Amino acid sequence: MNKILIEQVKEILQEEDSLAALCNTSALLNQSLVDINWVGFYLYKNNQLVLGPFQGKVACTRIPVGKGVCGTSFENKLLLNIDNVHEFPGHIVCDSDSKSELVVPLIAKNKAIGVLDIDSPSYKRFSLDDEETMSEIAKMIAEKLVD
Ligand code: SME
Repeated sequence: MNKILIEQVKEILQEEDSLAALCNTSALLNQSLVDINWVGFYLYKNNQLVLGPFQGKVACTRIPVGKGVCGTSFENKLLLNIDNVHEFPGHIVCDSDSKSELVVPLIAKNKAIGVLDIDSPSYKRFSLDDEETMSEIAKMIAEKLVD
């Protein structure tokens, strides 16, 4: 696990305003992770996932629950580490550079409230260590958002 990154996110989450904290978290992840082209949040609102703070190219603003990697991760409350997005049925293309994708649901009090989404321009970019680090970060963020 990347303990330094987790500590840095913890620091950022000291900010009382959730929107400001999410903005800086996406910026921190963008400047800390190598070989990624998009990182950010989709948050659950009115039965859909709606684009939240992110870094990267302009992205789709709304994702139906159960659709794409994000909607599937959210619906099943499951982390999805997709080595090749072109092989994922229903993958939603926001940035055509994306080749692999890690999506971690934000779960607090057993309820999914959104996802953390990270895209890479390389196949098989995300390791088990990335999964563990991002799960820890997603947990801290979810707890903050339901506070
Ligand atoms: N590829 C995602 C959509 C979001 S973008 O990657 C930023 C998906 O299939 O859900």
